[in-house]
Amino acid sequence: MDQVTLRWFSRDLNSRGMLVANALSDSVSDALMAGHTDKLQPLFERALQDERLFAIGLCSPRGELLLHTEAFPTLSCDAAAALARQAEPRLNLAGGPVHVGVHNVMGTPPPPPTPEVPDGFVGPPAPVPAAAPVAAAPQQPVLAGRLVLLHDMSFIERRSEDTRNYLVGLIAGLGLVIAVITVVVAQLSWRGWVNGARALMRGEVLFSPLPSGPSSAPAGEALAPELIPLANELRNRMRDLEDEFRRSQGLHTEWNAERLRALLNTHISGDQVIVVSNREPYIHERTADGVIVKRPASGLVTAVEPVMRACSGTWVAHGSGSADRDVVDAHDRLPVPPGQDDYWLRRIWLTAEEEQGYYYGFANEGMWPLCHVAHVRPVFRESDWEAYKAVNQRFADAVVAEARSEDPLVLVQDYHFALLPAMVREKLPQATILTFWHIPWPNPESFGICPWRKEILDGMLGSTILGFHTRYHCKNFIETVDRYLEARIEHEHSTIAFREKETLVESYPISIEWPQEEAMRNWPSVEACRQRVTERLGLPQDLCLAVGVDRFDYTKGILERLNAVERLLEKWPQWIGRFVFVQVAAPTRSALEEYRSFQERIERVTARINERFSRPGYQPVHLLAAHHEPDAVNELFRAADMCVVTSLHDGMNLVSKEFVAARDDLQGVLILSRFAGAARELAEALIVNPYHVEETADALHRAASMPAAEQRERMASLRSTVRESNVFRWAGRMLLDAGRWRLRARIEARVRRHQAP
Ligand code: F6P
Repeated sequence: MDQVTLRWFSRDLNSRGMLVANALSDSVSDALMAGHTDKLQPLFERALQDERLFAIGLCSPRGELLLHTEAFPTLSCDAAAALARQAEPRLNLAGGPVHVGVHNVMGTPPPPPTPEVPDGFVGPPAPVPAAAPVAAAPQQPVLAGRLVLLHDMSFIERRSEDTRNYLVGLIAGLGLVIAVITVVVAQLSWRGWVNGARALMRGEVLFSPLPSGPSSAPAGEALAPELIPLANELRNRMRDLEDEFRRSQGLHTEWNAERLRALLNTHISGDQVIVVSNREPYIHERTADGVIVKRPASGLVTAVEPVMRACSGTWVAHGSGSADRDVVDAHDRLPVPPGQDDYWLRRIWLTAEEEQGYYYGFANEGMWPLCHVAHVRPVFRESDWEAYKAVNQRFADAVVAEARSEDPLVLVQDYHFALLPAMVREKLPQATILTFWHIPWPNPESFGICPWRKEILDGMLGSTILGFHTRYHCKNFIETVDRYLEARIEHEHSTIAFREKETLVESYPISIEWPQEEAMRNWPSVEACRQRVTERLGLPQDLCLAVGVDRFDYTKGILERLNAVERLLEKWPQWIGRFVFVQVAAPTRSALEEYRSFQERIERVTARINERFSRPGYQPVHLLAAHHEPDAVNELFRAADMCVVTSLHDGMNLVSKEFVAARDDLQGVLILSRFAGAARELAEALIVNPYHVEETADALHRAASMPAAEQRERMASLRSTVRESNVFRWAGRMLLDAGRWRLRARIEARVRRHQAP
């Protein structure tokens, strides 16, 4: 700073010096020209009255010091001139530094003297030469001398110091003011931040929508704008945690075998459970290697078997295996599961004629297409109806025979036994009969096709509770009863009173048993499953693997699925060579022409697609028309990139839920028909209309291209749903309703007793 002020003041002193020199120059010039320099001394002394002017010296043009004031130091004119030329013309004296300025003084020499004329001379005027000038030419100014002006510079240091002090004071003052303002602003912002953060912590703004602007923010919920990103972050994190919490909560509140057992003991007084179904849970078959036990491809068995393992009791079913008779006791019973003996399996034997009339005929050519409305005409024969009635009675008698009390809990399964509830009710009026209809229930017009519609409805209303998968099927059933029977319907409570007895009609979405932790730990890894499947089928390594697992049934939409695969390869040829569809189709009801021709048609379509798109080492469709045991199906599910369920009409479809349960790696995409009951629960699947080939092909493409993160998000949510809504919940909800129902019936009976005269 000193350097800067010094430069400023030097320039200032130069200007001052020039002013002083200009003021003195006329007098100095005249004196020098006249040679009277002694007259200048007083002039210089007067000039020195200017306190800044320290000394004055006068030099001749030749550099001799002609005159100077008293304080003028020992300084030659040449030295002064040399100093003055410097950027900082400064001379340090004992009394302090002085500024040296040298200023030229210009002057005009006096004119030469003219010749004198004597006084009184009168003569003729001298002739004037024509070319002679009128007057002498003006003299050019010449250097008359140099003024050396020495200015006191001590004031500069004083001024510099004053300036420095002032600036320091100013900066300190400004700093103080800025600091105070900063502290105040920081205090205010900090308070705002703290209040905002507190509000965030209290969730005041987290759980309410963020204000769109300050004016719209309600008082007390105002949030500093800079906190809004933080609030958004927190809100997102909270949602993630909530989702994780909800998913993990399933573990603590979930229905499981123990809870179901406890419920049975506390809510249902008669603790004997009897299940009736056509299909048996374990089938003994005679083979070349001896007798083997098979698990049937049946959603019903998948769902009911874990319930029976939990509740014990007796399962009454048709003994259909070639070695079934070889392994039962004298009462046609055997303990199952083999080696665990959790409950009894009571086998009922049917003649070929009975099986043909009741199972193939009335149940599967009549009721099955009637209820599925899947473009296959139902066939109703009188002889089948007779067989159906007779077999229902056989099974009902077996149930009564198995009952150890007058109020057992009887779980009747499916469309094979529409008449059985009323038959059991007749013999065991106190029994709690829960009938579950595993297939859809059609609208009243469609059901009206059945020549024995009233008898069917009458038989079913022998149940205490009648369960369907969805509310939609309940509604259809209630409307059907309304159309064809003289019954009292209470829509509010979803009850039907018929023949002085009430039936509750309710929806209970069926499910699967969620795999035990230990079982999951023993599963081969997803990579190992993939390796095994690709090796077994000779598939290329880098491929997108889609699977379908069904019975060979026309309701499953297998044909529509194949058409969609064909369209996918047409529309996105990049998948040729990279997309493989494996269809497991367990042969079923092969005695029926409709099923045989369906299987043949599927085989023809498969061959056509393979002919069109196969390449050396690549075949797009692999049709595995064989029964697969649960472990093999699980392996296929774990190996796959997607599972395709395209039922044209399905009560629930447990394959979709089994696929979800198999994917503990949270990968894999489920494509699910919107005509399957499962679509109402599994919203994170890609839901399709299987009749729409383009839409289904697009879903295949979307699933094949889906990023892993999206798959994880969808699968995690699907798994949470299936784990929570497991099969024990399905059975538990029915048992809870049954318990409440029985209690109400007992109270009503007591009330009637009190009212009796
Ligand atoms: O869908 C109803 C259902 O009973 C299923 O539970 C089962 O998969 C199928 O029908 C019956 O098949 P089957 O005639 O081979 O027993």
